[in-house]
Amino acid sequence: MASLTVRQLDDALKQQLRLRAARNGRSVEDEVRTILRDAAGDIDMAAEAAAVTAEAKGPATDGRRVLLIIGGGIAAYKSLDLIRRLKERGLSVRCILTKAACEFITPLAAGAIAGEKAFTDLFDPQHEFDVGHIRLAREADLIVVAPATADLMAKMANGLANDLATAVLLATTAKILLAPAMNPRMWSNKATQRNLATLLADGVTLVGPNAGEMAESSERGLGRMAEPLEIAAAALNQFGAKAAQPLLGTKLLITAGPTHEPIDPVRYIANRSSGKQGYAIAIAAAAAGADVTLISGPVNLPKPAGINLVTVETARDMLKAVEAALPADVAIFAAAVADWRVANAGEQKIKKKAGQATPKLALTENPDILATVAHRTTLRPKLVIGFAAETEDLSANAQAKLARKGCDWILANDVSPSTGIMGGDNNTIQLVTPGGIEPWPPQSKDGVAAMLIARIATALTEPTS
Ligand code: C5P
Repeated sequence: MASLTVRQLDDALKQQLRLRAARNGRSVEDEVRTILRDAAGDIDMAAEAAAVTAEAKGPATDGRRVLLIIGGGIAAYKSLDLIRRLKERGLSVRCILTKAACEFITPLAAGAIAGEKAFTDLFDPQHEFDVGHIRLAREADLIVVAPATADLMAKMANGLANDLATAVLLATTAKILLAPAMNPRMWSNKATQRNLATLLADGVTLVGPNAGEMAESSERGLGRMAEPLEIAAAALNQFGAKAAQPLLGTKLLITAGPTHEPIDPVRYIANRSSGKQGYAIAIAAAAAGADVTLISGPVNLPKPAGINLVTVETARDMLKAVEAALPADVAIFAAAVADWRVANAGEQKIKKKAGQATPKLALTENPDILATVAHRTTLRPKLVIGFAAETEDLSANAQAKLARKGCDWILANDVSPSTGIMGGDNNTIQLVTPGGIEPWPPQSKDGVAAMLIARIATALTEPTS
């Protein structure tokens, strides 16, 4: 391999290198190494860009404008790569850096890669005159916040607008994609999770965070920013260009609806469950790429596309269908299974005869499908999730149920008639895990489904200890 020293280069080139190295605070040798490394990277990237472009660029992305808001975290350095990845995919990229982001990367670097000046200041008279925060907000088809720090998320959740980034976020009507990045303890803090729930309920989409090593030595856990390629895929998904499928390769089993327990061939015991929540979860899981088996009691809902639907009537049939659908990575038990069935169900229609005593129905307990699966020693799904429909002492009952049923999470909801949840389109959930209770905001059943699927995708990427 040929060798080359800086000394052998011509004077003009050496001078340029010296200036560049001084500007970047590197030695001339390090500057040369950086240039060569970038150039080598460009070769790979060029090939990859061509493949990506062929795959994803098209009418859905051409000319669409992404406003990338870069928050102040160490992951900001990955945002420079993200700019390139978004541009490779046919998107135009404009950047805003928060004040804290400027501690990690420079607006010059972001602007140079984006091919357009990066914005930083709400009160810069020049910027406000040229473009202004309202125009920045209006001229974006999608806003990507990466890294989304705990502080940015808190400000967004509360509608603060005291700098350019937050003012634009408050002024926009475009979709918002968040790529959170923070220390795992900050991520799991109740305040952050509360803000996250608010943001999700507001319609914000999430990519990551991922589990893994933190920048701080010896820190591991959930909080790493998603990789630029993942964020770019999620951005494309927002334009309908290509679906981000975090559950691709994952098998999900979901129960939904009521069960009908026969009294005789024409009569049955049932409940008011509509099946809407379970079906919404099945649809969201399939959209996330999961292989979904939905085991449904009798409902009045259309068959969702792209899922395996198994219809059953009784709790015992539902248990059989669930066991036949194992193995599964995740099992979600949203069905309102009848706790009892009629022990002495008539083979023929019970007749009302004059002068005869009223028939007595003896009840016997149905199998508990959730508990049966959660307590399995073989083929137990990695994540077993139940629902707790309560009309009183919601939190206490749900916590007790989590332990009794042996499941990993419980989605508890108050189904008192005044809430309209049974049969309605909305739901208010408390997520109960061994770690505690997390109230989710009131939202549509589709919103609950999306939030649950995002949670599951995150949990499946967490390292198992
Ligand atoms: O005990 P309870 O009916 O409140 O428990 C609710 C949870 O248990 C739900 O997830 C429901 O789908 C599940 N369940 C079950 N089989 C039963 C009763 C409840 O899977 N027989």
